[in-house]
Amino acid sequence: MSLAFPTRWGLCALALALPMAPSLAQDLQLARNLAATCANCHGTNGKAKGDMKPLAGMPADKLLALWADYKSGAQPATIMHQISKGYTDEQVRLIAAYFASQSPAKP
Ligand code: HEC
Repeated sequence: MSLAFPTRWGLCALALALPMAPSLAQDLQLARNLAATCANCHGTNGKAKGDMKPLAGMPADKLLALWADYKSGAQPATIMHQISKGYTDEQVRLIAAYFASQSPAKP
């Protein structure tokens, strides 16, 4: 009895979540694809090599704030001011959430 309860709850929660699952999965897929466009410079999954700044584990609001400053020109940049103009706000939110969910690179 005490073992059956959590299991039943789990199934119940799963059933409730199912109608949402396809769109969540699509968002995750989209976020991963979008984030992959940063990998050339910031490393696979944001785990940067060498001097490049890592994005893995960066809080989403920090990434969004940096991004907004690049986009507006408030933060001078060699390249990010250009790159930041190539994504919609919705895309950047997905990217920020994706990197925030990655474990930071080991130094
Ligand atoms: C062509 C190389 C390149 C690509 C692609 C690129 N970046 Fe960058 N990024 C840089 C460089 C270089 C900097 C340092 C600022 C500058 O000079 O532009 C930087 C800085 C940043 C910073 C600030 C990091 C910090 O700690 O200050 C963020 C956030 C960032 N990039 C996000 C992204 C995201 C998100 C993407 C993908 C959508 C991306 N970048 C794609 C080269 C790149």
